[in-house]
This record gives sequence, C-alpha cells and structure tokens, in this order.
Amino acid sequence: KTAHQNELKRQVAQAALAYVEPGSVLGVGTGSTVDLFIAALAASGIPLAGAVSSSERSTQALRAAGITVLEAAAVERLSTYIDGADEIDPKGHMIKGGGAALTREKIVADLADRFVCIADASKCVEVLGRFPLPVEVIPMAAPKLIRRFAELGGQASLRAGCVTDNGQHILDVRGLAITDPLAFEAEISQWPGVVTVGIFARHRARVALIGAAEGVRTLNF
Ligand code: A5P
Repeated sequence: KTAHQNELKRQVAQAALAYVEPGSVLGVGTGSTVDLFIAALAASGIPLAGAVSSSERSTQALRAAGITVLEAAAVERLSTYIDGADEIDPKGHMIKGGGAALTREKIVADLADRFVCIADASKCVEVLGRFPLPVEVIPMAAPKLIRRFAELGGQASLRAGCVTDNGQHILDVRGLAITDPLAFEAEISQWPGVVTVGIFARHRARVALIGAAEGVRTLNF
C-alpha cells in the first residue's frame, strides 16, 4: 500500500465521523481503514454508549481508545455499522472477508439499519469478482464446494493456515464475474457447508465514502 492510499483512507476515516450518532451504540468493522477510523473517533471526543466490534483486532483498538465494547448478542439494533470492503460496485454491493472476519462482519451488519462503507478508490469496480471471493466453509464440505465453484467457472482454493474466529476454513474463489450479486449471494449461502459467503448484497452499503485524488466522494445507495 502506498502512502497516497493511506492518506485517502485517513480522509474517509475522518469523513465517517459525520455518520456517528452521539450517544449511540456503533457497529465497527475490521481492517486498516477501520483502524484509522477508530483513531479519528478517539480523537473526536464524540460520546458513545458503546460499540459492537466484528473482530478481536478492532475490539482491542476500541478498548485502548476508552470505548466500551458490547457483545453483539446483547444488542438489539444498531443505527450504523462502519466498515471497509475489499471491493464495492456501483450499487453498493461489496466483497468482504479479505481479513477472514466476514461472518462476524455480516452478523454485525445485520443488526444495523445502515452500512457506511469507507474505502479508497482502488476498491471500486464495475463488476465484483476481481478480488478473490472469500467464503467461510465447514472443512468437511470443502472438496465438494470447490467442485461446485468450478461448475460456475471459479477456481477455489483453501486459504493456507487460516482458521477463522469460528474455527472454520476460508475458500478464496478466483475467476468469477458476479453480475447479479443478490441472486449469487442467495444461491451460494444455501449450499451445504457454506457458513458465510463474502458477498454483501442483502447487506449492501447505504452510504459509501470513497477516497479519491480529488477528495472524498459520498455515494448514497
Ligand atoms: C475484513 O474481513 C475485510 O472485509 C475488510 O473489511 C477489508 O479487507 C478492508 O480492509 P482494509 O481497510 O485494510 O482495506
């Protein structure tokens, strides 16, 4: 990652503060952009009732910033979930899971009324699938799932040495062009042995803050 890209991430992290409701419980995702967001949040002094985090990494950063971290199971609803993405298309559909936290990310996103995506412009694509699609799977189903992806034209491989927070494995699927993310997510999600597919279409972004050379672009979906 270039210094320029980091500066764009810092700008979108800063812009995301406008979407934090003071006094609320905030959903917080995972990744280098979110790390910058947590730093901006800590510096802002915006009071929060707490945060729900999608990973151990973010939980530690939030606690270090003096923010109370609540269990997702203890929270009925979040107004906003702020997270990065590996890819985002022109309708706010995303690929996530590059950091293997996709299941927790989808669970926390599902609690939230709106997903605010923060990303630099390198994440923007016309059609999802250039980034290898992460799919969390039950290990005993992996060989069959690899064959099923092959039937769709995808080359799936087991992410070496990766065990998720839920004790499962990750397939990374290359060579897919996902033109109908909503239908694709629904289909793959019901294959036996799939825990979570890293397509966020049902849980697409409602707002995307995209860091580009000319400044932060705000997209509403
Ligand atoms: C984590 O599983 C991913 O979904 C992240 O949201 C994604 O990788 C974004 O990370 P960066 O902000 O580091 O690009």
